[in-house]
Amino acid sequence: TEERTFVAIKPDGVQRKLIGEIVARFEKKGLKLVGCKLIQPSRKLAEKHYAEHKGKPFYEGLLDFITSGPVFAMVWEGKEVVSTSRSLIGLTDPKKSPMNTIRGDFGIDVGRNTIHGSDSVESAQREIKLWFSKNELITSSITI
Ligand code: CMP
Repeated sequence: TEERTFVAIKPDGVQRKLIGEIVARFEKKGLKLVGCKLIQPSRKLAEKHYAEHKGKPFYEGLLDFITSGPVFAMVWEGKEVVSTSRSLIGLTDPKKSPMNTIRGDFGIDVGRNTIHGSDSVESAQREIKLWFSKNELITSSITI
């Protein structure tokens, strides 16, 4: 099977009605959507997702923000999809992220940066398992 990655439009992006625009960028890049759902994450899910940031000064605020409203969680598939997705997404800080990247175009600040994408194949596997059950993901499909 091809590489998969976890991508989530954060509460700021959902609230500002950017789901369609962002999904379109991934689709036009040739990536394949294999699962998606709108979900307001529990504190527990958010803590697990951001476990590596525990203890950092922004950790509690990060949890407050990501649990503050619906998140559009997705799994995308394709060749080198982890790095391709990160190119589409841009840099963590929207101010430093180039134009034509999602965060460069839509991000407000380092917290409200519109979107999350897994930073490696290993974190992608962990995050997909955390957010999705197997029956929520497409395993095979015919091309029409
Ligand atoms: P994300 O890709 O979701 O992974 C960790 C998140 O922590 C990151 O995007 C930022 O939104 C957030 N983050 C990183 N650094 C800071 C910071 N200095 N202040 C607030 N949030 C931060």
